[in-house]
Amino acid sequence: MTATVAIEVHDLVKRYGDLVAVGGVSFTVYQGETFGLLGPNGAGKTTTLEIIEGLRRADSGRVVVQGIDVFTHPRKARELMGVQLQEAGFFEKLTVAETIATFGRFHQKSVPVEQLLARLQLEEKARTLVENLSGGQRQRLSIALALVNDPQIVFLDEPTTGLDPQARRNLWDIIRSIRDEGRTVILTTHYMDEAEELCDRVAIMDQGKIIAIDTPVNLIQTYAPGAKVYITPHREEEGERIAEQLRSLPGVEGVGKNGNGEIRLDTEQLEATVGALVELGRGGEVQYRSMRIEVSNLEDVFLKLTGRRLRE
Ligand SMILES: Nc1ncnc2c1ncn2[C@@H]1O[C@H](COP(=O)(O)OP(=O)(O)OP(=O)(O)O)[C@@H](O)[C@H]1O
Ligand SMILES: [Mg+2]
Repeated sequence: MTATVAIEVHDLVKRYGDLVAVGGVSFTVYQGETFGLLGPNGAGKTTTLEIIEGLRRADSGRVVVQGIDVFTHPRKARELMGVQLQEAGFFEKLTVAETIATFGRFHQKSVPVEQLLARLQLEEKARTLVENLSGGQRQRLSIALALVNDPQIVFLDEPTTGLDPQARRNLWDIIRSIRDEGRTVILTTHYMDEAEELCDRVAIMDQGKIIAIDTPVNLIQTYAPGAKVYITPHREEEGERIAEQLRSLPGVEGVGKNGNGEIRLDTEQLEATVGALVELGRGGEVQYRSMRIEVSNLEDVFLKLTGRRLRE
């Protein structure tokens, strides 16, 4: 199967005065995939997204969406795209159903209001004023508006920021279902778990540049292979001695201690390290109360690449 290109981004540059918000960004998004721009505040994610959407002008570069040059044919390109509006775009005194109907009129073709209400689980809120919606409901409404023109490509800028865990999971299900309909989804987030859950491929952005781009699994394998194993010794005063002893276990690259008395082993060979630990425990040479394992995630990838945490 050969993948069809949905979006080509060539060497985008955007400056605001002296600040280089986007410093030469290139990537390709394939049809039907969910593609994530992951990065900290100010990385340039929204700027990149809005240039692709034709809402901001780049200083240089080129964007082609399904064969259409966005800079020279913005209107035509926009027909293919659904863009999630920020809250600021809502009319607070309209109901949910009126809002969807109003936005539908901006487009040549639009999905029936009832269908979108059902799709986003907003039927019961159809007659509710926008100003009375909860955060999660507002977010669902903004996604309904992104789908109103039945777009092939859907853009979501931080779709779950500020939501509680349950509302986030609910939105994740909705985003997955958009992808399952065969649409291309491009989203920004600064939640690494969200990127891992939803995205087929992720571009990690930092300071206006893409510093890595791949599937989450490949990014982790390339930049942060391995895992951390934590054990809590039976007696805390034995921590030092045990930590020293564990330094020579197979696979162990580093040993550290947590404030709560846990010993941390950084390993690149999880099975070998855990196997040896279990053996030591069985033989009574090292006594520990608990063991837990943390496999690497995209946060570790970001830390490895930049020396900083994603969310400081
Ligand atoms: N209209 C503007 N005028 C001046 N500077 C801007 C403008 N828009 C964005 N910037 C700057 O460009 C940089 C990139 O901003 P952008 O909004 O693209 O980041 P982001 O990755 O979306 O961040 P966040 O995660 O906070 O949404 C930031 O330093 C920001 O202050
Ligand atoms: Mg942003």
